[in-house]
Amino acid sequence: DASDIEKGTYPHFMLKEIDEQPLVMRNIIQQYQNENHELVLDEEIRNALLKADRLYIIACGTSYHAGLVGKQFIEKMAGIPVEVHVASEFSYNMPLLSERPLFIYISQSGETADSRAVLVETNKLGHKALTITNVPGSTLSREADYTLALHAGPEIAVASTKAYTAQLAVLAIVAADLAKAKGKDFGFNLLKELAIVGTAMETICGQKDELEKIAKEYLETTRNAFFIGRNVDFYVSLEGALKLKEISYIQAEGFAGGELKHGTIALIEEGTPVVALATQSSVNLSIRGNVKEVVARGANPCIISMQGLNMEGDRFILPKVNEVLAPLVTILPLQLISYYAALHRDCDVDKPRNLAKSVTVE
Ligand code: G6P
Repeated sequence: DASDIEKGTYPHFMLKEIDEQPLVMRNIIQQYQNENHELVLDEEIRNALLKADRLYIIACGTSYHAGLVGKQFIEKMAGIPVEVHVASEFSYNMPLLSERPLFIYISQSGETADSRAVLVETNKLGHKALTITNVPGSTLSREADYTLALHAGPEIAVASTKAYTAQLAVLAIVAADLAKAKGKDFGFNLLKELAIVGTAMETICGQKDELEKIAKEYLETTRNAFFIGRNVDFYVSLEGALKLKEISYIQAEGFAGGELKHGTIALIEEGTPVVALATQSSVNLSIRGNVKEVVARGANPCIISMQGLNMEGDRFILPKVNEVLAPLVTILPLQLISYYAALHRDCDVDKPRNLAKSVTVE
């Protein structure tokens, strides 16, 4: 059938979509660059964003996890305060809003009912809305004032992969554009650094055998797994854990490294897999301290670090990219490890039980 043709030589859409990420980076660079080779937003969107005194990101699932990283980008690079909310909570538990809020809806499909319910509400209140979606013309895109497209191409596998990294790239472009408009120097050339990210993604996609080995070694028979990170690595650990539980049904949780000792460490037993992310120089030593704490309780650690921060015994080393953009590459080995874990546990990778690609009921 048609879906077989689209999959080409790939056994699953998920693997194909993981492999497409370098190409998506190139597409995004092409779509968002101006004649001076700068990554920019439409003037109208830029001005609307600049008018706001606070941005509210609303999303669900993987898109929510992208929003958490996006908050970091926008606050650190452009100095604009951002809140991130899960759509289904926001609708009945609306926080106090700032004077001039602008809402950013992040949604791969543009059809998620929980997010739409909030959009209907904020439209009623008269607040401006921007939708960041892979499907321009979708409900969330049509009902918002502005749309930014992800240019990731159709995503078929239920577990979102290339849409997540596309969301991060577009959010970085938003942050860089606003920073420039405000005369803030965030210290790097985004177009150049995103191109480097694309190349790093290619390198990781070429290391599938090694990642399959890691999946077999740590995840073939385990009933649970933990992901830890500090700073932005914490947000990536949430997404890594979500990928694993969605498709392999292994109970997986992401935690902030420092929070482990306040409860979760009670769950560590002999052989419990703990995937630790170390891509941020400011917390490199402290996350390694957390690894020691879990190892002392019998955990089986799998440290994924970035070149330059790596130490002896690390299990997988990411090619070096700008630290701010590290989440765009850190998630790739986690996607691939999840894929192989699901495969070796005979799970239906593209269509996991109980899940739908987009949830159109509240
Ligand atoms: C569903 C999918 C998730 C996705 C979430 C939000 O639950 O299974 O993979 O992250 O919806 O979807 P959206 O299209 O709004 O990004």
